[in-house]
Amino acid sequence: MQDLYEVIHRRRDVRAEFTGGPVTPTVLDRILAAAHAAPSVGLSQPWDFVVVRSRRVRAEFHEHVSSEREVFAATLDGPAAERFARIKIDGIMEASLSIVVTYDPARGGPGVLGRHAIADAGLYSVCLAIQNLWLAATAEGLGVGWVSFYREEFLAGLLGIPDGIRPVAWLCLGPVSRLEEVPDLERHGWRQRRPLRLAVHEDRWGGR
Ligand SMILES: Cc1cc2nc3c(=O)[nH]c(=O)nc-3n(C[C@H](O)[C@H](O)[C@H](O)COP(=O)(O)O)c2cc1C
Repeated sequence: MQDLYEVIHRRRDVRAEFTGGPVTPTVLDRILAAAHAAPSVGLSQPWDFVVVRSRRVRAEFHEHVSSEREVFAATLDGPAAERFARIKIDGIMEASLSIVVTYDPARGGPGVLGRHAIADAGLYSVCLAIQNLWLAATAEGLGVGWVSFYREEFLAGLLGIPDGIRPVAWLCLGPVSRLEEVPDLERHGWRQRRPLRLAVHEDRWGGR
């Protein structure tokens, strides 16, 4: 119990602290098994995991991410632009490997139990697998960094992901020098964490 809460609060999104050290096959298996144990709508298990070790593939993706970073940077000006310039948004080349998590909306269909009214429930399931993966990696003493500065078509093409299957996350994974106590974006003054009491409503929206 104590351990789970400790891992939840120790988890961080990592960009700068990857050491590039090895991830043993046993540890990687445990992390992937934790992801694969996630709950899913109608037990559809709509996820797959592409383990990317190739430096060539990672370099190609990194180049794409860098150009998408420029696209976002161009939407900013003034202090926000200055702040963003100081923020590292990925550790693709520094991390030991990456795992791309995908979503197959056709898995378990037709008639996925519990998805008839909420199509996004499939996507929620994939995000739960990602969170399991993230927490398991943290428990193993590793870091994870989620990279979302990419176009889905580009990543699908790069990894040969079939039509209809969506890449949901590029996750950098590996040993780290340390996990920061405060999220990077908070340390850089980009955004603050919201107090829990503002996120909790009683009986109806806005009820305190
Ligand atoms: C869906 C999603 C996409 C994200 N994409 C990026 C990203 O492209 N680059 C990045 O540096 N961090 C990314 N993050 C990490 C968030 O910035 C981070 O989770 C947040 O600042 C809170 O920090 P923490 O995870 O260390 O608690 C992403 C996180 C999520 C959940």
